[in-house]
Amino acid sequence: MLNAIEISPDVWWVGGIDWNERSFHGYATERGITYNAYLIMDEKVTLIDTAKATFSDEFIQRISQVVDPSKIEVVIANHVEMDHSGSIPVIQKYAPNATIYASAPAGVNELRAHFGIEVEGVKTGDTLSIGKRTLSFVQTPMVHWPDNMVTYCAEDQILFSNDCFGQHFATTKRFDDEVDRCELFRQAKKYYANIVLPYGPQAQNALKAVAGLDIRLIAPSHGCIWRSYIADIIEKYQAWTTYQLEEKAVIAFDSMWHSTEHMAREITDAFIAEGIPATLYDIKATESSDMILEMMDARYIAVGSPTLNSNMLPTVAGFLAYMRGLMPRNPERIGLAFGSYGWAPLGPKQVYEALETCKFNLPEPVITQQWIPDEAKLTELQETVRRVIEQNRQA
Ligand code: FEO
Repeated sequence: MLNAIEISPDVWWVGGIDWNERSFHGYATERGITYNAYLIMDEKVTLIDTAKATFSDEFIQRISQVVDPSKIEVVIANHVEMDHSGSIPVIQKYAPNATIYASAPAGVNELRAHFGIEVEGVKTGDTLSIGKRTLSFVQTPMVHWPDNMVTYCAEDQILFSNDCFGQHFATTKRFDDEVDRCELFRQAKKYYANIVLPYGPQAQNALKAVAGLDIRLIAPSHGCIWRSYIADIIEKYQAWTTYQLEEKAVIAFDSMWHSTEHMAREITDAFIAEGIPATLYDIKATESSDMILEMMDARYIAVGSPTLNSNMLPTVAGFLAYMRGLMPRNPERIGLAFGSYGWAPLGPKQVYEALETCKFNLPEPVITQQWIPDEAKLTELQETVRRVIEQNRQA
């Protein structure tokens, strides 16, 4: 087992590594997950967050390498979601007199509801002396639950950021500069896209709230600790939280007898011909969370489905439900709905309606094709894509 790791003098990583978890509520975690918790060895032994309940043994073993868990006096619960709070009941068994702090009122109420425990509430600007150090708290509601907060230790210049700046990336390495940089930033973006994306304004507020802090380490509750690329990840968050779009297209489809697929390929080629980078996904062969990663900052999103029993394909419906929950309203995002049918164009029409509920800008009516697209239809598709791009360039 990986030992506890001292990330700064007297500050230890004591989390859990979930090497084989492959799904977090439908988000495909192909690199696994870590549940980071941090132990501060001060006059009051302090724990920042805990770990998922199934990792309690591993978590307690790591704490025990540093200190007897019964010595813990303070537990900071930055977030109640159970990947971070799940081991609080275990900590309470070892250290029944430890005081647990959470944001007020949401964190306090949620912890009581989860575990029936007594919790002290803290708010933005509150501080807590633990000896040589004083912790301060910044509430970051809806990044991504009502209770979220971050904890700052000025003496060590560490921001314990919980979910913010996290990555689902299981590794024995604890720091950003110890792993492949491309993979690190890919996982950070995938995490943002699939967890935080709907809450950009709230995440912007969180960025502003911590902007004036001197930060040497950002210690999130998932993945690697940021020490060498702090400015880079904050710059990324500035772009992501303000929904900046890139001039690129993502085309996602499922197909029965290749008519909708043929349309999807023609649309993809049309974007490429106009100098717009495009990515084509077969929905049934691709994880939704990977498509969202690409779609998050794409100007153009085209989704296609044929018609099956008067509906769009269930694969497409499932993906659109996932996307609708995540995609924020962005009037600059341009959508296209397309697809084939035999006797009634109901599948592609449902796709169009789903994109409407996502509040996409839909400059063209739904593009439908009875049976098999011919050359004239393919030419029409190319012209439609060209027209949409031209309208956007002139806007
Ligand atoms: Fe990592 Fe919102 O829990």
